[in-house]
Amino acid sequence: MKELKDSELNPLPSLDVWEDDVLTRYPDPEAIATTRNAEEYRQYDDPARDTVKEFYRLNHTYQTYDFVQEKRADFLAFKRKEMSIWDAFDFLNQLVDDSDPDTDLDQFQHLLQTSEAIRADGHPDWMVLTGLMHDMGKTLCLFGEPQWAVVGDTFPVGCAYSQKIVYPEFFVNNPDYNNPAYNTKLGVYEEGCGLRNVHMSWGHDEYVYQMLKDYLPEPALYMLRYHSFYSWHREGEYSYLLDDHDREMLKWVNLFNPYDLYSKSPVPPNWQEIKGYYEGIIAKYLPSMLKF
Ligand SMILES: [Fe+2]
Ligand SMILES: [Fe+2]
Repeated sequence: MKELKDSELNPLPSLDVWEDDVLTRYPDPEAIATTRNAEEYRQYDDPARDTVKEFYRLNHTYQTYDFVQEKRADFLAFKRKEMSIWDAFDFLNQLVDDSDPDTDLDQFQHLLQTSEAIRADGHPDWMVLTGLMHDMGKTLCLFGEPQWAVVGDTFPVGCAYSQKIVYPEFFVNNPDYNNPAYNTKLGVYEEGCGLRNVHMSWGHDEYVYQMLKDYLPEPALYMLRYHSFYSWHREGEYSYLLDDHDREMLKWVNLFNPYDLYSKSPVPPNWQEIKGYYEGIIAKYLPSMLKF
């Protein structure tokens, strides 16, 4: 791949801009009901949308089947760093949002607000822990990875792209688009092969799934691995790649998604009060050191 300029590595002012944009596509039903109608909620003339559009142009252009294999071979060896969970949260928090320092909470606060919302609804402790860990894969950015290889809606590579993926028109720039091995409905896959046999575009979901796959129950692993696969869990696409197990697990992915999207609040939880609980569930499920 050619040498990328900084504007091609980091088209967004911060990673959070992507999640803010997802929220305009899939607004909180309650916020719409109580504040304004859905059309008003979608701010199409927001200048942030231009950076998001450029972000997706790069994402759709460069996330080829070969690119994914390269990243998997590199990052799934987990040979960069070994950290305790608490050091890992400090490390993740080095990702700061320069664009909006007053209003945006740090990465750990997003994780904690997600997990606290799950806990408040009485879900099992492993799901609370999943909320706490789900974006740990964003540390990829701190290893110098381009933003479009860390966040963004994920999609299967090696087969035709769904038209329900955001900005589908940019896929014409992807070399795989014209490659007969990859551009048919099934591409390199077999009908009903199951998502476990499908390679997704590379990003923080697959990375954190692989990091934690030995420690959490199966529904948690689906939440980690597919939380950014919006064309599946929100749009119902790619049914021909699914098996019965995927169809069974979809309800867990759907259960998780609103906690990720709609738990943001300007008021941080009182960490001193809840710290003991989190130390307990981390000790219960996770090893003392995590490999990155
Ligand atoms: Fe995420
Ligand atoms: Fe998230």
